[in-house]
Amino acid sequence: MIRPYDKDRDRGAGRRIWTECGWLDDIEPELMDAYVDCGRAWVAELNGSAECLCLAGDGDFQYMGNWLSLGAITGVTTSHIGRKQGLAGRLLAHALASEASDGKTLSMLGMFEQGYYDRLGFGSGAYHLIWEFDPSDLNVKSRHPAPERITQSDFQAVHDARLKRMRSHGNVNLLHSENTRHNMFGSKDRFGLGYRDTEGNITHCLWINPKDMESGPYRVLWTVFETYDQFLQLLSILKSLGDQINSVIMEEPAGIQLQDFLKQPLKRMEVSKGSKFKTTIHTLAYYQSRILNLEDALAQTQLDCKEFHFNLSLTDPVTSFLQDESEWNGLQGEYVVSLGSKCRVETGSLGALPTLEASVGAFTRMWMGVRPASGLAVSDNISGPPDLMKNLDRAFRLPVPYPDWDF
Ligand SMILES: CC(C)(COP(=O)(O)OP(=O)(O)OC[C@H]1O[C@@H](n2cnc3c(N)ncnc32)[C@H](O)[C@@H]1OP(=O)(O)O)[C@@H](O)C(=O)NCCC(=O)NCCS
Repeated sequence: MIRPYDKDRDRGAGRRIWTECGWLDDIEPELMDAYVDCGRAWVAELNGSAECLCLAGDGDFQYMGNWLSLGAITGVTTSHIGRKQGLAGRLLAHALASEASDGKTLSMLGMFEQGYYDRLGFGSGAYHLIWEFDPSDLNVKSRHPAPERITQSDFQAVHDARLKRMRSHGNVNLLHSENTRHNMFGSKDRFGLGYRDTEGNITHCLWINPKDMESGPYRVLWTVFETYDQFLQLLSILKSLGDQINSVIMEEPAGIQLQDFLKQPLKRMEVSKGSKFKTTIHTLAYYQSRILNLEDALAQTQLDCKEFHFNLSLTDPVTSFLQDESEWNGLQGEYVVSLGSKCRVETGSLGALPTLEASVGAFTRMWMGVRPASGLAVSDNISGPPDLMKNLDRAFRLPVPYPDWDF
């Protein structure tokens, strides 16, 4: 039994699910309630009680300067007694159908592991680069004026600043401020440093989760800025903590190679091996996305290539999780796609055109610029004649898509 979450009826069961998943360890239950209520929520019942909870929220996604509507999946959780009965798969498929019917072009989520969401048509995003370094090693020329303290009670101003931060291809905004509030809470030590304009709006800031307040590491949960000068000021703030703090962990922002700011990074990596305060870089793809509406996605796509056309034979595994009554039944089907400065798609096929065979997850990855078609053909579910693959590789030479929003 799948149905929308009813706060009067499902509050207790929802909290129990999150408790069993360990998601209520660091936050008050009221914070969870606000997070659930700020978006859309569905439950799957077992023996009359909600045992699986799926959450979605409104967002937008930047595709090379255009904006697509995003149905962000902000939580999929099954209680201890509901596991491995297909509840989460069916509930998420139902949520995706609902988001698609509601006009969302794209869906995205943070994965707990590779493979699970592929079964619902999701494909992995690009790698994120996460640096650990000694902030006193930062080579920043600019100096910063004394920043202001930012606290959890500033969540609305921080959220507003995040919405208008500098953005690039692949960036995501989650529109409701509860999404920011939720991430700002957690351990009581979390704190922010930043700046406001004369009207009191936050222009740029850091939000930090210290693992050890006295010596670090300090995990920078987000770096918000509108200009690169502001970014340099934020780095300068981090450097100023370096007399005391031995380690900062932060993601590399789009467009910046953080290693450029580190003194002797190779030597530091070598000598700090095995230390709690090591200099190192981690990389991982942890977002997944899938197109929900192919027409809308391609209508917002402008590519720097000569126009070309092909048949697309698309498979979509989400269909097997959906019941016939869904208005949206996945994207499986035959299409004719035109790519160029204007892109479009129609259902059908034309005998004279080459055919690309792809799963919706692999197609989404190519379209987003995660990897070129020819590389995805080796590791994912996409194939076509060599000339078509070459054209696709050329057409989708895009910057690395980088969501820059944890959810
Ligand atoms: C992830 C979670 C929601 C799955 O819930 P669930 O209701 O047990 O999931 P389902 O029954 O729909 O799916 C389980 C199936 O997926 C399979 N599966 C699990 N991980 C997989 C993976 N990485 N790749 C492929 N299949 C996977 C399981 O083997 C199982 O298959 P089986 O039924 O054939 O044995 C649940 O484990 C959970 O709540 N975890 C804690 C919270 C969490 O991490 N949520 C995800 C946030 S992104």
